[in-house]
Amino acid sequence: MKRNIITTSDGSKTIQIEEWNEQYHSIHGAIQEANHVFMKHGLLFYAETNLPSKTESISILEIGFGTGLNAFLTLIEAEKLKLNINYVGVEAYPVQLEEIKQLNYIELISKEHEANFEKLHDTPWEESSEITSNFQLEKQEKFFKDITTENAFNIIYFDAFGARVQPDLWTEDIFKIMFKALKPNGILVTYSAKGSVRRAMQAVGFTVERLPGPPGKREMLRAQKKGLVTFSDIQ
Ligand SMILES: C[S@@+](CC[C@H](N)C(=O)[O-])C[C@H]1O[C@@H](n2cnc3c(N)ncnc32)[C@H](O)[C@@H]1O
Repeated sequence: MKRNIITTSDGSKTIQIEEWNEQYHSIHGAIQEANHVFMKHGLLFYAETNLPSKTESISILEIGFGTGLNAFLTLIEAEKLKLNINYVGVEAYPVQLEEIKQLNYIELISKEHEANFEKLHDTPWEESSEITSNFQLEKQEKFFKDITTENAFNIIYFDAFGARVQPDLWTEDIFKIMFKALKPNGILVTYSAKGSVRRAMQAVGFTVERLPGPPGKREMLRAQKKGLVTFSDIQ
């Protein structure tokens, strides 16, 4: 399928799949969308509400590593907030380095972290690599349906292509896999606000909130795997 690099409304670039008329990010602003959906309502929300101590680490699963934009923003937040983050990015079709070089995330987000952005892409797949002293990355080349990890993540960034072009990725079967992958009280955030998506999440056990969306979208979703109260919680 033919892929183009296009510029979105906030000046940041993304990849477009011409045949599907689908982009890796919102055409209303790639960086703005990533910051709003995954940082503000994902990582920052989780860190503010769930972290008893800053020495604890946060595990994140990204559904669709793609350009590495979400990983890059997360790495920078980890440093700002002094958080230790273990990040797993799953991706079946890794983006080519020639495409990555045409994106303008370093100049728009942080020149200071140029080497770290490159490292995110240069590190080998299928092994955990230390990108900075508080950000570990493991890129896994596989299909989302083949994720078998259970009870391991605090946050899932669910950033698959839209249900219009990949409806099979927004089903109860896939959200069951996500529910299992999360730890109790873990959250999943996504840019989608479709009723059918919300209902599929609820059907597998998630508690779902509708939140204001990024520019160009009225709403987005945050789903939580509500934890059971254990004996140690009430002691
Ligand atoms: C919306 S884009 C991801 C954007 C990415 N988070 C970023 O910031 O660049 C969706 C990604 O999912 C990948 N993908 C599509 N179908 C997949 C599947 N069934 N399993 C794994 N990856 C898939 C695509 O190759 C693409 O990189």
